[in-house]
Amino acid sequence: MGTGQPDRSILLVGMMGSGKSVVGRALADRLGWELVDTDREIEQRAGVSISEIFRRDGEDGFRSLERRVLEELPRERAVVALGGGAVVSDRNREILASKGVHVWLDARPETLASRVGEGRDRPLLDGHAGPARIRELSVLLQERRPAYEQAEIRVNTDDCSIHEVADTILDRLESQEERV
Ligand code: S3P
Repeated sequence: MGTGQPDRSILLVGMMGSGKSVVGRALADRLGWELVDTDREIEQRAGVSISEIFRRDGEDGFRSLERRVLEELPRERAVVALGGGAVVSDRNREILASKGVHVWLDARPETLASRVGEGRDRPLLDGHAGPARIRELSVLLQERRPAYEQAEIRVNTDDCSIHEVADTILDRLESQEERV
């Protein structure tokens, strides 16, 4: 990439179902960078699934494992797919501020629900199916919007393929660097 800070890590933020992991994979492949998926990292360290961590230690237990992973994120040459709630706490946002450029993958609640499907590995959506799931995603999105809006780059992903989203991010980053 151009000038400025060319190797700053790229942090993908946004709701469950916004495409952070799949877009992260595409971006990491294109750049030849490492992909860090914080949920997978947490599972590896805990030795159990996210759902099991929530069952065993509650959301607070999950959030403290998550914070430890955020503290150790590489500042350069990594694409990071963050969990949907990672940027909600002020402390986490402070930690993440120095970790790279933040990109918000935005989408409507209906889109998020269709991408998440009825799969069970989203403990915050447990017990919410069909229209109730869309409503829950909508409530969470409203609560989190002020945190997501702090990202330097926002990309709407509703009607875009994974590769279109990756292209848009790379274009936007390049034009940001040209302005540095
Ligand atoms: C969460 C999102 C999940 C995972 C955990 C909590 C959230 O990650 O970190 O279930 O608070 O929105 P994804 O956004 O990758 O689904």
